[in-house]
Amino acid sequence: MNWKKDSWKNYPIKQQPVYPNEKELNKTLAKLEKLPPLVFAGEIRNLQKNLARVTRKEAFLLQGGDCAESFENFGAVNIRDMFKLLLQMAIVLTFAGGCPVVKIGRIAGQFAKPRSSDFEEVNGVSLPSYRGDIINGFEFDEKARVPSPKRMIEAYYQSATTLNLLRGFAKGGLADLHEVHRWNLGFLKKSKLQKQYTDISEKISETLAFMEACGINTGNVPSLKEVSIYTSHEALLLPYEEALTRVDSLRNEIYDCSAHMLWIGERTREIDGAHVHFLSGVKNPLGVKIGPSASASDIIALSNALNPSNEEGRLNIIIRMGAEKIEQNLPKIFKELRSEGLNLIYSIDPMHGNTVKAGNYKTREFDNIIKEVRAFFEVGIAEGIYPGGVHLEMTGQDVTECTGGIVSNVKTENLQKRYETQCDPRLNADQALELAFLIADLVKKARA
Ligand code: PEP
Ligand code: CO
Repeated sequence: MNWKKDSWKNYPIKQQPVYPNEKELNKTLAKLEKLPPLVFAGEIRNLQKNLARVTRKEAFLLQGGDCAESFENFGAVNIRDMFKLLLQMAIVLTFAGGCPVVKIGRIAGQFAKPRSSDFEEVNGVSLPSYRGDIINGFEFDEKARVPSPKRMIEAYYQSATTLNLLRGFAKGGLADLHEVHRWNLGFLKKSKLQKQYTDISEKISETLAFMEACGINTGNVPSLKEVSIYTSHEALLLPYEEALTRVDSLRNEIYDCSAHMLWIGERTREIDGAHVHFLSGVKNPLGVKIGPSASASDIIALSNALNPSNEEGRLNIIIRMGAEKIEQNLPKIFKELRSEGLNLIYSIDPMHGNTVKAGNYKTREFDNIIKEVRAFFEVGIAEGIYPGGVHLEMTGQDVTECTGGIVSNVKTENLQKRYETQCDPRLNADQALELAFLIADLVKKARA
């Protein structure tokens, strides 16, 4: 194959910054190339093994996190609460859904954003759009919006410290099943949701006590006190991804060591474009976002390009059509794909097709998010395709960015209270947990 880690430069590319100082860019990339990989190839291979179980309908994939990580909101509390939320949702899915859950964060590298417009206008002033903290600044200020290569170094170190804490939490005790009560986030409202979660926690504690009496404990079964949480982001900024792409010395295989899993966005998935070419050459598990304009043949072509040997656990098709269009488009696509025999994971991103404007805020209505998730499961079950995962934008904080939710019930007029995202609106912890209970029921049905 005619692939080198820099051969993407020979292909048409979209959504890239233009750096004003090329010398500074090259110096920064040379530095990045010498820095250690953020993840280890062995971990990436373990993720693929776990994802292969999703392809085989033996597990479910939970992927979630910020739309865009930020330098300013970086800190232990945000990471801890995201970790707890992922664990809470995973335990609900495992227990109520009756199925092992592969956990992947949109974290430790989710910094580069595709934009629908190159410019942003505020009160008659037009500036280049914000493209994520790895590229330029969020402030609406001419200087801040100039792309700076130095930001790649800051993103790298932030990813490294985030990963460090995640690994500590995952293996150092916070993920111990005996702590299941403590994963509850303090502000969860005293509600039906709270009670549902407490019920599960109590059942788990009882089960653990019983198992301990039978001699099964954290001493002899480490999986009772440890989890694996993998990292992922959109591989949008290819100079950065190239600099972190390394040959694994154990197997002589090429991995993008910026994260365990990488995905291609809806706006950059052209079959002969630079992003598809670049990711076709690395061994990581991959995702591709699939919007309402896609057909089954687009997905087949992507699968041939990105997973030519039809490996299990390699490619995740992330559907994001919006609550209305999914019902019209997906049945035909799934019908056609069913007969292809492709080993694909199918998951649903019910966020990006359901974004609406409410005054000055971008928001998403919880009911539409639920509607798209339900439609995805119903169509999958009807067409004989396993609906194997969910991809969410969410935060462990009590923000007001998406409207609705039975417990949370954020109203449009309250969006300004805690609207903190630097890009798209995220589910708050209550909304995310509520969604997890709903998905658990659907997973159970899909696997029946
Ligand atoms: C995203 O996941 O933040 C995103 C931009 O998604 P999409 O490519 O599906 O629009
Ligand atoms: Co987003």
